Amino acid sequence: MKGVSFLLLWVSVVDLSTQYRYDNVTVDYVPRQLTEFKNEHPRPIGVLTTIAGAPVDIRQTVTLNTDIFSNMYHLDTTTHTDSERIPERVVHAKGNGAYGYFEVTHDVSKYTCADVFNGIGKKTPFFGRFSTAIQNKGGNELAREIKGLAIKLYTKEGNLDLLNLHLPVYFYRDPVDFGHFVRSFRRNPKTNIFDFTMTWDFITQKPDFLHAMLWQMSDYGIPYGYRRMDIFPIHTYEVTNKHGESHYVRFNFRTEQGLANLTNAQAQAIASQDPDYFTRDIYNAIANKNYPSWRLDMDVMTLKQATHLDYNPFDVTRLWKKGTYHTVTIGRLVVNKNTDNQFRDMEQVAFNPANLVPGIPGPVDIMFRARRFAYRDTHKHRLGPNHDNIEINFPIYRKTYTRDGKPPVRENMRDAPNYYPNTFHGQEPIIDMSYPKIRKNMFDRNSVDLQPSSEFYNHIVESDAHRQRLADNTAFTLRNVDRRIVKTTLKMLSLVDQDLGHRVAASYKAAQERENAAAKLDTKKRYEPLARCINLFTQGRLKWVD
Ligand code: HEM
Ligand SMILES: *[C@@H]1O[C@H](CO)[C@@H](O)[C@H](O)[C@H]1NC(C)=O
Ligand SMILES: *[C@@H]1O[C@H](CO)[C@@H](O)[C@H](O)[C@H]1NC(C)=O
Repeated sequence: MKGVSFLLLWVSVVDLSTQYRYDNVTVDYVPRQLTEFKNEHPRPIGVLTTIAGAPVDIRQTVTLNTDIFSNMYHLDTTTHTDSERIPERVVHAKGNGAYGYFEVTHDVSKYTCADVFNGIGKKTPFFGRFSTAIQNKGGNELAREIKGLAIKLYTKEGNLDLLNLHLPVYFYRDPVDFGHFVRSFRRNPKTNIFDFTMTWDFITQKPDFLHAMLWQMSDYGIPYGYRRMDIFPIHTYEVTNKHGESHYVRFNFRTEQGLANLTNAQAQAIASQDPDYFTRDIYNAIANKNYPSWRLDMDVMTLKQATHLDYNPFDVTRLWKKGTYHTVTIGRLVVNKNTDNQFRDMEQVAFNPANLVPGIPGPVDIMFRARRFAYRDTHKHRLGPNHDNIEINFPIYRKTYTRDGKPPVRENMRDAPNYYPNTFHGQEPIIDMSYPKIRKNMFDRNSVDLQPSSEFYNHIVESDAHRQRLADNTAFTLRNVDRRIVKTTLKMLSLVDQDLGHRVAASYKAAQERENAAAKLDTKKRYEPLARCINLFTQGRLKWVD
């Protein structure tokens, strides 16, 4: 098989590498990726084959006037391209992946015996996926919405998945809202356009959403890239020490790059040039060896403390109140390697918040219980029943009685017994001393509580200028909304705080007047994109950038 024809192909490739020198003065590594590949591989990396491994004759790469159905190269490329898509994630569809490690810096053994968090200096590798929540796969990363960083830590005790968002509170506390949330924040089924009439109509009937929505409308809403945001798994986790004693904790990853954010105008200006800016920024930081990192802190409560509060500490729509907990540091998360294949790792990774380890039995609230089911279900749809056999999802150690099914099945437990219990020395369970001693049950109240929103507006938002930006950003989302819904929205905002209601109403009114004035000049212009942009520039919302 190795023959003259291969040799001919090899020598026919002229070495052009000297012509492919690139300008390495720029810090943007993204456009150089292929040139770097070429520099690392001065010759073609091998012989082109069909999917089945047969070498491809150069005449098969042109099909005009040939018997195309005898040409395996043609059949491979056409049929495989036909089916190269898998379903995009229903949320967080647009992401990018990178590797890193978690390092323990402090002793937290009295709270949790989880191996990953014990032993100062211990490093555990992880795969991380940065994402934006509402956009589709090709969406705009600069949109004002939730960002994520999900991490899968490959610990000695199995995978620990922490799915983090860049805001410390979540939108709703009743799992039945999930699908309605996702759809009401997205495209109208008829117009196929993002429709804030739907969004605000939904929120005004589900005021739980308002707190997270105000965070999103504030400066926190658009971080200046994935590196410049804090991230939170949000839920209150139960953790246990080696005696099975429980504490209740909230994890907080604090960015070591410094928090930073963008205004609408800045975000729009960047998006108009580079809607992938967040991905570019993280890729370049890693390529420049400027590794982004986060300090992991843990807010701690005892069960006794947790049950004697004037608020529900398990509610994902609110923060813990100051003075009801103490904070300890655990370690540091460092991202230090770009993946060399986004589909293999980033697209196929299946994060599941239910992937927990001994010493972290996990949250007890009803949202988390719903999530234990939802992710498994969606992964089965997106990747198939054996998604955990895909390389990126495979734990360091695993011996299970589950097997077979749609590929990949890997070694499929070879010849070991396939039922449990058995007396033939199949794998056996352990006795986990950290298993929680008591089972807790949570009862939630369904009452509307606007206090967390009011607390946020008055105390976390630190200045009047910031409150005004929050109000302007909110008014901006109302500009095309049905008048009736605008009215109810303004009413709801006034219930949170009179000042908030007034500011949004004033900002909304001013924007309407400007648009009406523009429309009077020329009715058609109101919907002309360029006229609208010019309108934004004259309002000072957009600034020209050099
Ligand atoms: C009932 C509540 C929730 C449901 C039903 C739900 C459901 C989902 C689903 C179906 C996905 C797509 C997963 C995939 O295709 O791989 C997803 C992704 C994600 N969720 Fe949730 N979610 C809920 C609440 C939350 C909360 C409270 C957080 C954060 C604390 C969160 C953080 C994330 C993140 C970061 C991702 C992206 C994972 C990735 O990068 O692949 N979710 N969620
Ligand atoms: C560009 O890279 C080459 C090879 O690594 C190096 O020798 C050269 O000094 C670099 N030039 C600049 C301007 O950094
Ligand atoms: C947002 O950025 C502005 C300007 O850099 C800064 O003054 C402000 O403190 C930032 N706010 C947050 C919440 O990061």
